[in-house]
Amino acid sequence: MKKLMAANWKMYKNRAEAKATAEDLINRIAGKLPEDREVVIAAPYTALESVGAALAGQARCSLSAENLYPAEEGAYTGEISPAMLKDVGCTYALAGHSERRSIIGETSEFVGEKVAFGLKNGLAMILCIGETIEQRKAGEVQKVIDEQLEAGLKDVPADFAPESVVIAYEPVWAIGTGEVAGEDEIIEAHGFVRKKLKNIFPEKFNEMRILYGGSVKPGNCAQIIALDNVDGVLVGGASLDGESFSQIALA
Ligand code: PGA
Repeated sequence: MKKLMAANWKMYKNRAEAKATAEDLINRIAGKLPEDREVVIAAPYTALESVGAALAGQARCSLSAENLYPAEEGAYTGEISPAMLKDVGCTYALAGHSERRSIIGETSEFVGEKVAFGLKNGLAMILCIGETIEQRKAGEVQKVIDEQLEAGLKDVPADFAPESVVIAYEPVWAIGTGEVAGEDEIIEAHGFVRKKLKNIFPEKFNEMRILYGGSVKPGNCAQIIALDNVDGVLVGGASLDGESFSQIALA
């Protein structure tokens, strides 16, 4: 199973900045990315084409959208379909990032529709899950993981390839705060995720990747990816700079 080192650029970078960062990153990792590593960059829609051009021809480097809408086409002003994303070179999309859940108001059910629709239309999906600090303090970590995985994976097609469904566990309180989750917290949460995947997909759960996200930096990445059931990382702030993300990708 290849470790997946994923960048999430959120709503940062115009086309020129995105192109420059992607090219800088590629220059730094070209020829050095181990066979068992994969790099994914999730970029804003307007930057997908230029980032895709920078990644083209690079082994084990893929382009991702940060979101999608679960319909083929139609009167959905402001939305974007999997076919449009594939047309611009995406092979992955994120679904259910906590910022979309909390700011845009996406429900777990809607996130599940996106995951299923993206998969049925040929994209690999990175389903983001994770508890808020209030939920953690109330002892609800496992309950939140259960609920978000249950709803998020409810209509996954039976024949999916295990590497095409990725879970990103991102405790909301660790995102963009500099406060990375403790090793015990990561091991425990990833253990819950693996157990839940085993219940839902008894034949594939062990080949599905579980990423950690939340204040991953060059200085903490190697320790995090060495933990049990951590199959990569999803990185926001520290992925915006080519040098910093290259250190993470090669950690
Ligand atoms: P962060 O963001 O690395 O800046 O904490 C992670 C994410 O939102 O995916």
